Amino acid sequence: MRVVLGSDHAGFDLKEACRVHLLGQGKIEVKDAGVFNRDSADYPPIAHEVSRAVSEGEARFGILICGTGLGMSMVANRHRGVRAALCHELFTTRMSRLHNDANVLVMGGRVIGVGLALEMVDLFLATPFEGGRHTKRIAQFE
Ligand code: RB5
Repeated sequence: MRVVLGSDHAGFDLKEACRVHLLGQGKIEVKDAGVFNRDSADYPPIAHEVSRAVSEGEARFGILICGTGLGMSMVANRHRGVRAALCHELFTTRMSRLHNDANVLVMGGRVIGVGLALEMVDLFLATPFEGGRHTKRIAQFE
């Protein structure tokens, strides 16, 4: 499975933690769309790049991190076929996959700690879409 990661400066440390965590599992191909340091950076270009990769099928899932997660999620959800879920705890993370078939997990690097974020990443990637009645609802997004 290929996962594409992206952050601005405010999400850089958490993105790095996610990257190391996923690579350490040895079964996920990780693409890093940047940023690559803590210098101040605009989040929209990174959100567009990660979203494009998911929308065009280059990656199965995306993970986006800025300070709050708000800007990244607003930009990502403008892309056709992208269902970006801004989550800060485990319940909505799980539900975003089960009911919404979310394909981009968005987090706020200034909102949650690394331990919770890594649990959320694992849960997001491991939880299947429930399908059924939710399929026709997702079809109405576009
Ligand atoms: C950067 O200061 C901050 O505005 C950005 O990371 C994000 O939180 C925007 O939504």
